[in-house]
Amino acid sequence: MLTDAHLKYESQKLAMNYFRVALVLFGAQLVMGLIVAIQFVYPGFLFEIFDFSVARMVHINALVVWMLFAMIGSVYYMIPDETGEEAVGIKLGKLAFWVLTAAITVVVLVFIFVQVGSGSEASIWFINEGREYLEAPRWADIGIVAVILVFYYNVFATYIKGKRTGIMTVMVANLFALAGLYLCGMFFTDNISMDQYWWWWVIHLWVEATWEVFVGTLAAYALIKIIGAKREIVEMWLWIEVLMLFGSGILGLGHHYFWIGTPEYWWEIGALFSALEPVPLVAMFVHVLYDWGKEQGHAEAKGDAKVINNTPAMAWIVANAFGNFLGAGIWGFFHTLPQVNIYTHGTQFTAAHGHLSFFGAYATILIAMMYLAVQGAYGIKRMTMTFKTKMSLFLTIFGVLGMAVALTIAGYEQVLVERADLGGGWDAFFTAQNLPWYIQAQGWRLVMGIVTFAGFVYLAWDLLTIGAVESAQEESEGAAAAATA
Ligand code: HEM
Ligand code: HEM
Ligand SMILES: [Fe+2]
Repeated sequence: MLTDAHLKYESQKLAMNYFRVALVLFGAQLVMGLIVAIQFVYPGFLFEIFDFSVARMVHINALVVWMLFAMIGSVYYMIPDETGEEAVGIKLGKLAFWVLTAAITVVVLVFIFVQVGSGSEASIWFINEGREYLEAPRWADIGIVAVILVFYYNVFATYIKGKRTGIMTVMVANLFALAGLYLCGMFFTDNISMDQYWWWWVIHLWVEATWEVFVGTLAAYALIKIIGAKREIVEMWLWIEVLMLFGSGILGLGHHYFWIGTPEYWWEIGALFSALEPVPLVAMFVHVLYDWGKEQGHAEAKGDAKVINNTPAMAWIVANAFGNFLGAGIWGFFHTLPQVNIYTHGTQFTAAHGHLSFFGAYATILIAMMYLAVQGAYGIKRMTMTFKTKMSLFLTIFGVLGMAVALTIAGYEQVLVERADLGGGWDAFFTAQNLPWYIQAQGWRLVMGIVTFAGFVYLAWDLLTIGAVESAQEESEGAAAAATA
């Protein structure tokens, strides 16, 4: 991550900058998560110094922002490979990067320093727009839109100028939808049902439609790079997934419209279409593992099984296939029918699903892209796992799974005690939170959060050092081979 010496294109160098900021924000996200988790167990922690609500807000906004940075980085990294061209508006692109990074920094500082106060038109513009995950104030919202327009121009114009692969075609169309949806979270209405109605267009149609298609394009690209998968095969899968994801994902939106004051027909629509959502996730899973197995088979037939030229990235892609299926597919499906959701809605069960899905479906593949970029930046032919790579894989995956299990147990207790037994309501909410199953589960979440954080430390350390280590090793191997020849 420390150099970009071997990258030929400015677009890819810019990508490295996006990845670097993404990594820093990822770390900040986890620190905030730890603070919130401590406050669950010891409610007096940082009392009146750093509010639960603010730490939680920074935790999940930093999550969204680091992922967007890593996504933009991934696109800038792929553009030259896929189109054969330098990004056309690269100067503007570089400027946009600094503007975006500065704006995000200001927004976070304001969140941290202005924690309490009344809400007004001015606070919407300058402090906080008040929509979970998208809390940036309006000035920043407008700035973000401007920066994204520059980014989109770069992607689109380069696509038109260069080779138009299937991967890029899907990418360009999908990014248009992804960016356009952001606008749905930018206007304010006094009616909370209406406000939530539109807010879900961003949140749900991002993570369950456009982001999923986006990671489909990344997986397709990465599989070609890492194992030399056949383009026709990965692109065929990609088109199938696009069709299915948009099919189930768009009307699947209904699973957020059960209890917010929208008409009751959403019960049936939400139940049916969101229940179908795991189908494309299974297809993605099959896609990655099938391609991998197939390429491995070809290679073995040729007597060379070592076709994986970046094992850290490949390991994270496999983690992605499993994680997406488990976190989004299984944990999502659990609570997606209105008959179930009436009990689980807004419990820790939701948080279990939120963690497992965001990590499994998105963090994993974006980390894989970072390893690919490091390989390119150091000019390494075949990158292998270091001890740190293995530690980071093990600790983050084990930690996040552990957190999800703990939260699932807490959620289960809430369903039984708060909802089923006591019939919901204010008192029931607090009774359920004070029983041992809940308290112990929150304790375990904290422990597993620390494990996750330790994994992150290894990850950052590895990303910063693996390039130098592996290129030195390759050089010495090359020298040894030359000496024996
Ligand atoms: C990678 C894809 C996904 C991500 C990142 C994701 C993430 C999330 C998050 C963070 C929430 C909580 C939102 C809030 O704060 O209120 C949520 C809610 C929900 N998700 Fe997902 N999700 C994904 C896919 C799915 C899928 C495929 C399904 C169903 C098959 C699903 C079903 C649900 C339901 C029913 C809720 C509402 C929970 C409640 O009523 O409290 N999700 N999701
Ligand atoms: C150090 C590890 C982490 C800890 C201790 C932690 C802790 C927390 C806590 C305490 C909350 C508030 C839950 C609530 O209000 O009930 C939360 C929310 C959330 N965190 Fe984390 N987190 C960690 C890592 C992550 C990771 C790696 C991701 C995803 C990649 C993530 C995604 C989320 C999401 C999406 C929410 C909102 C969930 C919802 O509203 O349903 N967190 N986290
Ligand atoms: Fe959803």
